[in-house]
Amino acid sequence: MALLCLSALPGIAQSRQDILLTNGWKFSKGEMPEAARPGFNDAQWQTVSVPHDWAISGPFDGNNDLQKVKIEQNNEKAATLKAGRTGGLPFIGTGWYRRKLVVPEFGPGKRVVLLFDGAMSDAHIYLNGQEVGSWPYGYNSFSFDITRLLQPSGDNLLAVRLRNQPEASRWYPGAGLYRNVHLIVTDDVQVPVWGTYLTTPEITPEYAKVKLRTKVATPGNSFQNLRLETEIRDASGKVMATTSTTLLPTDGQEFEQNLVVPTPQLWSPETPTLYTATSSLFAGSQLKDEYRTRFGIRSFKFEAGKGFSLNGKTRKFKGVCNHHDLGPLGAAINTAALRRQLTLLKDMGCDAIRTSHNMPAPELVTLCDEMGLMLMVESFDEWKTPKVKNGYSQYFDEWAEKDLVNMVHHYRNNPSVIMWSIGNEVPDQGAPGGGKIAKRLQDIVHREDPTRPVTAGMDRIDAAINNNFASVLDIAGFNYKPAQYEKANDKLPQGFILGTETASTVSSRGEYQFPVLQAKQKQYPNNQSSSYDLEYCSWSQIPDEEFVKQDDLGFVIGEFVWTGFDYLGEPTPYDEKWPSHSSYFGILDLVGLPKDRYYLYRARWNTTTPTLHLLPHWTWPGREGQTTPVYCYTNYPSAELFVNGKSQGRQTKAPSDQPQTRYRLMWNDVKYQPGSIKVVAYDAQGKAVATEEVRTAGKPHHIKLVADHAALAADGQDLAYVTARVEDAKGNLCPDATNQLQVAVSGAGRFRAIGNGDATCLEPFQEPRMHAFHGQLVAIVQAADKAGDIKLTVTGKGLKAGSLRLKTAVPAGK
Ligand code: GAL
Repeated sequence: MALLCLSALPGIAQSRQDILLTNGWKFSKGEMPEAARPGFNDAQWQTVSVPHDWAISGPFDGNNDLQKVKIEQNNEKAATLKAGRTGGLPFIGTGWYRRKLVVPEFGPGKRVVLLFDGAMSDAHIYLNGQEVGSWPYGYNSFSFDITRLLQPSGDNLLAVRLRNQPEASRWYPGAGLYRNVHLIVTDDVQVPVWGTYLTTPEITPEYAKVKLRTKVATPGNSFQNLRLETEIRDASGKVMATTSTTLLPTDGQEFEQNLVVPTPQLWSPETPTLYTATSSLFAGSQLKDEYRTRFGIRSFKFEAGKGFSLNGKTRKFKGVCNHHDLGPLGAAINTAALRRQLTLLKDMGCDAIRTSHNMPAPELVTLCDEMGLMLMVESFDEWKTPKVKNGYSQYFDEWAEKDLVNMVHHYRNNPSVIMWSIGNEVPDQGAPGGGKIAKRLQDIVHREDPTRPVTAGMDRIDAAINNNFASVLDIAGFNYKPAQYEKANDKLPQGFILGTETASTVSSRGEYQFPVLQAKQKQYPNNQSSSYDLEYCSWSQIPDEEFVKQDDLGFVIGEFVWTGFDYLGEPTPYDEKWPSHSSYFGILDLVGLPKDRYYLYRARWNTTTPTLHLLPHWTWPGREGQTTPVYCYTNYPSAELFVNGKSQGRQTKAPSDQPQTRYRLMWNDVKYQPGSIKVVAYDAQGKAVATEEVRTAGKPHHIKLVADHAALAADGQDLAYVTARVEDAKGNLCPDATNQLQVAVSGAGRFRAIGNGDATCLEPFQEPRMHAFHGQLVAIVQAADKAGDIKLTVTGKGLKAGSLRLKTAVPAGK
């Protein structure tokens, strides 16, 4: 059953339908030009639902997209074989999707548009055997009017051909129709796709001026007798402003309306208040279309000497960069999976995301509007000069402007979007003419949206400054250059600098290596990185080095840490090793389990809830008597550590020549003895205010299940992420447990995927069993579209099973 989203308000005639083409798709891989034609027999093809990622079910293989390359931006001097660079998944090749298309109420006077939120990649769209159009960049949204090719009989065949080239990416791109496909049916007098542009040119405590420009398309371009009635409602549905405008011949194809909202509630990450403008388009007395624009009222400034302010308050971006994949779900978009990610980031105190290095899914932008996260929406990872053999550079000249225009039109009404990025570490920074290209791209973005600034992540700081590249940008963004912020700021005209990409510290959840040393590109035989948060890349830093500059330099306006979540591909420092299919950069692992670093950032960023976290775990048979440093990540200024009740002294955060002494409490000489480690934290007045204890675990005894939420929507899409923990008899996590766990789901839902956050694990995400990694894994359960109970049981040899019930209910209004 296709999901039907009617954009009409209750009680108003339905004038526009936005139907998600979710089910009824057939899919197959292979070069089959004949698959575009209606008579082609696809009976043997796989039946799939969209969003769909054809490669995520694997199998993993180091030969998939094996790349022999010298990664110049990583300062490599010679080409070497990289096995897991794009995740080791089978995404290369051609794939076809086919589907019958029935358009409700199609006939004369109707207009039908297909809108693809993203298709990976090089999409060619066919209707009834004829090519409708194509769009090469896999991350962008695009639409085509298919009215003229539709058969009124209802017997229509939609076919989509996608093709992924080898050596086209630096990370796992996903494969296929991995984002939603919309069928939009309107009257032929209508507001086209992304047809409104809403700005708030003046905001005071008493009122906000809202300016709405609305495009109108009509058959034969006859714009006679048209009227647009717009009403703005607040979040509770109360009408705040209305206006009615007649389209005059001088207006061309666009209405301009100005409204005033009294006592506006401002949008911010802390108060994500939204309004909706509903525009009803009439021809005479007939309602032709109804178009909704959700927006927020907020103002921001980037000022020399003052930095960034939102709604008049100076703040620094507490941001993360994220790639688009959702770990075990691959690139296939899912709102519940994104909501969980944002919930975890918000709890950490994060207030911004950079959609590295491409356009996001619309669901992410919608959720950031609703949940309160600021966005840097990024476009490209390369321009004219390639970084990978078959990357975007092949399309740049012909497509860059079209791609930027679609990106900006799509998201320029979203309050979460604060800035646009025209590129990441593009080699053109230092190439002749690079500054000119930057100016041209920035001008395109300004032309389409003069209200937001443009940035780019630059890594070649001297080249970018000398090439007049950095000075052209509204915001100079630097990747991994905290030590040079002062020098760059002195040389640049803007008067502020952004850490567009910071840290790139690497770690594996639950993994600790001794002796504890700060190290670059450190490798271990097991292809893991230590979780003491002191390991990083040849070009990057530990988090604390960036913190110092963020705290001490007023002109630095924040940071975007590389990365919030681990992602598929780019397994630095094991780029040349296999098995290793995913990154080590994440603050949270590939399944969203927090690594220790989560608490380092939380202690700094979450100013409303205390953080008190101890590492490492305290189960080290064989390490008795050996030095086992203990770190505490906390927002309290000092704490005393006890090992089996014996004080190890009190530590206080304080600047020194080692940046981490300012941000971590560290006891470097602790000798391991089984038992427990415990900290007592003191507030600034010296009062003992909180404690935290970690105990030595006994033998694995049972499986404990913890769901991220227990009440699901019975919508066929909602997900519960259930963490399975292998615990000892007393409820301590067994930090070395690697038991294979088996998942069984029954009732009103199904098993969707599994993951353990181990970059070296080649077990498939789609089978209901996997080994625990450092005592944990996460099972993802998907609700059916009928309400009821879901029962989940997780078993493991020699362990008492864990079981859990989840409830699903039909969402209100369905
Ligand atoms: C940066 C790059 C990112 C990622 C990161 C890893 O140079 O922009 O995409 O590769 O390094 O540290």
